[in-house]
Amino acid sequence: MGIFLDSANPDDVRRAQELGFVKAVTTNPTLIARSGRSGLDVLSELVELFDGHVFYQVTADTVEKRFDQAWEAHRIRPDRVIIKVPATTQNLAMTARLVAAGIECAVTAVASPAQAYLAAQVEASFVAPYISRLTQHVGGSLDVVRDIARLLENTQTEILAASIKSVDEAVAVMLAGAQHVTLPLELIMAMGEHELSQQAIEEFHAQHHGE
Ligand code: E4P
Repeated sequence: MGIFLDSANPDDVRRAQELGFVKAVTTNPTLIARSGRSGLDVLSELVELFDGHVFYQVTADTVEKRFDQAWEAHRIRPDRVIIKVPATTQNLAMTARLVAAGIECAVTAVASPAQAYLAAQVEASFVAPYISRLTQHVGGSLDVVRDIARLLENTQTEILAASIKSVDEAVAVMLAGAQHVTLPLELIMAMGEHELSQQAIEEFHAQHHGE
């Protein structure tokens, strides 16, 4: 099980590094666009700030350009950059080529067990089902995760649930079979808090100071 940070913001990534339990950082083109900088520039900074894997999505408009883009990102830090490839049949074929060349890949924006199955066939390290988008558009996102988990049993491909909007949703997808979840910083921070814990802490604090 791993908690990943879903952000391209250097301050968030620094915080995640300090927390110590965040295993990886996922970025996407929307998150990178918010920085106003080039993707590779942001990626280079994030791998310096964070010790674990950093996921980077290819975006170019042809397969060959996406393939080259993957290589460029991979070369920035071959041992720690994972290439995110959005799920399409052509991109799955490209993923097979990247994996064969020794580049670790995650198939992202996954919306069906069929796509996840093909991601395992091409030996992607991760598949990323987009949970809240599935909930909004088809309902039953947890059933999709359960089916993916069954299909990927005995494969090397792990489920990284993405597009998660609440702590409860994060826990639900892990219970449904996702090995990892990627979350914005505020959800990671919220996972460790509960009002009843806070109440207990305040009671102990009052007693300690009353002694
Ligand atoms: C995951 O890697 C993606 O960056 C992200 O979770 C997508 O979330 P969204 O549906 O909020 O764009």
